[in-house]
Amino acid sequence: MSDAPRRRRSLTHVGGGVRTAGDAADGDRLARALAVAPATDAPDDPARAHVHGFHTYPARMHPTTAARLVRAFAPSGGRVLDPFCGSGTVLVEAQLAGLAARGTDLNPLAVLLSRCKTRPRTAAELGRLVERATECAETADARRKAKAGATRRFPDEDVRLFEPHVLLELDSLRAAVAAVPDATARADLWLVLSSLLVKLSRQAADTSDRAAPRRTAAGFAARLFARKAEELAGRLAAFARLLPSPPPPAAADEDDATAPATVRPGMADAIVTSPPYAATYDYAAHHALRMRWLGLNASKLTRGELGSRAAYRRVKPGAARETWGRELAGFFQSAARLLPPGGPLVLVMADSAVGGAAVRADEVVAEVGRACGFVPAACASQDRPHFHGPGRDAFRDRPRAEHAILLRRA
Ligand SMILES: C[S@@+](CC[C@H](N)C(=O)[O-])C[C@H]1O[C@@H](n2cnc3c(N)ncnc32)[C@H](O)[C@@H]1O
Repeated sequence: MSDAPRRRRSLTHVGGGVRTAGDAADGDRLARALAVAPATDAPDDPARAHVHGFHTYPARMHPTTAARLVRAFAPSGGRVLDPFCGSGTVLVEAQLAGLAARGTDLNPLAVLLSRCKTRPRTAAELGRLVERATECAETADARRKAKAGATRRFPDEDVRLFEPHVLLELDSLRAAVAAVPDATARADLWLVLSSLLVKLSRQAADTSDRAAPRRTAAGFAARLFARKAEELAGRLAAFARLLPSPPPPAAADEDDATAPATVRPGMADAIVTSPPYAATYDYAAHHALRMRWLGLNASKLTRGELGSRAAYRRVKPGAARETWGRELAGFFQSAARLLPPGGPLVLVMADSAVGGAAVRADEVVAEVGRACGFVPAACASQDRPHFHGPGRDAFRDRPRAEHAILLRRA
C-alpha cells in the first residue's frame, strides 16, 4: 500500500481547473478560494488544522476556502455573518482574520460546535477540561469494573447501533458528563462524547446507513473519551495562539436563516456562507444519534431545514428547481434586510440532482438573488464528482460543479 496520505471524501474538493464569470477581479478572488488542494488524511492537512479537525460535520466548508473568502470580501475590521454556520468554519476563519463573527444555524449541534470552537479559553479552563474528562473516564471505568448496570433504558436504535458493553460504557460517560458542575467544561465534554458516538457505533458515518462491523475492546470508549478531550484542549490552545489579541468577538445562536430573530439589520457587513444543497443531506436525520445522546431538541430543524433530501422525495422532479428557488428566496430576502447597500453576500454551493434532473446552483442563485434585491457580481466554478448513483445521469451532459458566488446588495 502507498504511504501517500489518503484523500478524504467528506470535503469533496478534488482540484482541477476553475471557470469564472462576471467581474474579472472578483472572479479571480472567488477562483482562488475554490482552488484548494484536495483534503487528505495527513496530520498537518489544513482541512483539519487546530479546531477545524475536531468533530466531523457533513458538507463542511474547506477552511482555506473560508479564510480566502472572508479576507477577500469582508471589509477590514468588519463583522461577518454566517447564517448557516454548521460546524463554525467561517466563524473561526473570520476571527483569525481579525473580524467579529456571528453565526446562526437551526441545528443545535452546529450551534454547540460553533460556540465551542470560537470561545476563547484560558489555560486554566483547558486544564480543567482535561481534568474533568479524566474524572468522567475514571467513573465510567469504575462502573464497568463493578459491573454496574445501565443508568436508564436504552431505545431500540441504540441497542441495534452499539455492542452491548460499548453501550454501557457510553451510558456511564453520558451520566458522568451530565454531572460535571462547571458549565463550560460540561458543554465541551458533550461534544467530546458526540465525537465518539458514530466511531463506536455500527454506523459507518453520519451520512451513511451502511453497517460498519465493530469489535471494541472493553474500556476503550472511556480511554478514547479522555484522549479526545486532551486532543480538543490541544486544538483550542493551538487556535488561541493564532488569534489576534484581543480575540475578535464571536457568537452563535440557534436560528432560522429565513426568519432570523437573533440578527438585526446593521449587525453584519458581509455574509459568507454555504447554505444546504438541494436534496442532498438531511441534517436532522444524520444527527439523530448525536441529538439523542446530547439531549438536544431537533424539532425546529426538522420543521425548518432547507433542502432536506427527505422533503424533496415528495417533490415532483419537474418542480424541484422552483421549490429550491422558493426555499432560497426566503433566505435571500432576510439577507437583503440584514446587509447594507453594496454589502457582499458570498455563497459556496454545489449543484445537485433531484429525481434525475440537475439543479444548477449558480443559475438558481443568480435568478433568485436578482428577484430579492441582489446584483450578481461574479462566480467561480469547479467540477465535482457526483457520488450518489441515481443522480449521476443528471450530470451526463454538463458536469456537476461547486460554485463560489458573489452577489452585492443593490
Ligand atoms: C452546508 S452546511 C454548512 C456547513 C458549514 N459551512 C461548515 O463548514 O460546517 C448547511 C447548514 O445549514 C443548516 N440549515 C438548514 N436549514 C437551515 C435554516 N432554515 N436556517 C438555518 N440553518 C439551516 C444545516 O443545519 C447545516 O448546518
